[in-house]
Amino acid sequence: MSQFTRRDFIRRGATGAAGLSLLMNGKRVAAEPAAPMPKPASPNDRVNVGFIGFGIRGNILMENTRKTGQANLVEVCDCYQGHLERAKERTEGKIAVNFAQYQKLLDRKDIDAVVIATPDHWHKAIFLDAMAAGKDVYIEKPMTHKIADGHAMIEAARRAKRMVQVGSQWVSSAQNQKAKKMIAAGELGKVTKVVAAYNRNSSTGAWNYPIPPNLRNGVNFNWTEWLGPAPQRDYDPARVFRYRKYWDYSGGISTDLFVHLINSIHYIMGATMPSSVVSTGGILYRHDGREVPDTLDALFEYPEGFHVTMSSTFNSQSATGQGIQFLGTNGSLTLLLGKPFLHFAGESHAEGYHYSIDSWPVALQEQFMNEGDHRAEVVRKPPAPEELATEDSMDSTALHLAEFFDSVRTRKRTGEDAEVGHRSAAAGHMVNLSYVAGKKVIWDAGSGTALI
Ligand SMILES: NC(=O)c1ccc[n+]([C@@H]2O[C@H](COP(=O)([O-])OP(=O)(O)OC[C@H]3O[C@@H](n4cnc5c(N)ncnc54)[C@H](O)[C@@H]3O)[C@@H](O)[C@H]2O)c1
Repeated sequence: MSQFTRRDFIRRGATGAAGLSLLMNGKRVAAEPAAPMPKPASPNDRVNVGFIGFGIRGNILMENTRKTGQANLVEVCDCYQGHLERAKERTEGKIAVNFAQYQKLLDRKDIDAVVIATPDHWHKAIFLDAMAAGKDVYIEKPMTHKIADGHAMIEAARRAKRMVQVGSQWVSSAQNQKAKKMIAAGELGKVTKVVAAYNRNSSTGAWNYPIPPNLRNGVNFNWTEWLGPAPQRDYDPARVFRYRKYWDYSGGISTDLFVHLINSIHYIMGATMPSSVVSTGGILYRHDGREVPDTLDALFEYPEGFHVTMSSTFNSQSATGQGIQFLGTNGSLTLLLGKPFLHFAGESHAEGYHYSIDSWPVALQEQFMNEGDHRAEVVRKPPAPEELATEDSMDSTALHLAEFFDSVRTRKRTGEDAEVGHRSAAAGHMVNLSYVAGKKVIWDAGSGTALI
């Protein structure tokens, strides 16, 4: 850590949660150099982008696309007119709007790339249509709704030679990148355990998003198009705005929240897929008609020689309620979601022999203690814990999008391409398969399937 200069001391009270605990007294060290902000592209160099799905996330993605200075916002498609009106407001009326006919957007020759931010049950079909139309694609996480979707999507991207970025933006943060470097450099020793949590304790956190009071199917909303490839059923606005509560459209906690943690763990640890996953969960608090669990605990085994425990519960005040802790033989590193720092705590290596040799004859104890450094007892004291500041030049979503737009121009692979996105989502699906079956699920790398 010689590249850091010591700045000041901080005192940070912290409580443990879900098996995690933060350092208590830490030194703060100076900021990492920020990830570079790209220079705004010249008008001819800008990527022409269409947006399919302009709800909560599409709205954020459009703002961040604008911030990158790398793209022209051309057209937006959605099944709800209210969202299209909002897109017009955000672009001073400049963007073209398309009500529930995404194929028409894909047919436009002047659009280079599309951002797909629909609910998960539509991801595969729209992605395949975009590939067939020759578009590069930024697709939201989870890339898939089912493991098998990923195989078809990877194959289509390969055949069409299209660039893909999957939207787990946390990996584009300076924080994730610094953690990856530290672990690769061996600063934590051998990391055998990763503990991660994504807790939320609010109605919004439980996906009970408000339903717009003007929503009217057949007037300003198209239920048939929204439902698309999902099983047919009567119009239900709660399913539209709270779709994460139902298996037909989402994988709940695991594919909505865990997938962010899984993707970062894969990136930081240089891992690809867990060899097995076992999980348990239930509906312990939100008895509101949801099908997916509101509480989930999972244990992943990785062939690289580490285990991950991951959980989601309601307590959001705990210091590491949304974060990952990497536990190594020489130290631990804690990342809190969206925070511009890392906590590093060195490990002590203490050996105390009195306890284990007291049952020996005294003369033998003395002989042993006089050998080597057995009397030293504490071989290495832990260094003071440190808070390592990291600083992004832009929101990590903008950085993630900027990497995609660069890839569209240069044809250089993105960091989170279809294969990476597929694996993160597949690990999330394994959690759900295990939860439903009540059994450990094994990943069969040869066939790329989960065996129950
Ligand atoms: N990366 C992140 O941090 C992050 C955060 C939130 C959501 N997401 C992801 O973004 C996606 C969307 O989530 P959301 O919260 O924005 O949901 P949302 O319900 O707010 O928005 C989805 C939009 O897609 C539209 N839509 C559905 N079918 C369509 C179709 N056939 N054509 C055009 N539009 C269609 C809906 O009308 C809706 O407006 C999900 O996959 C979610 O996991 C990612």
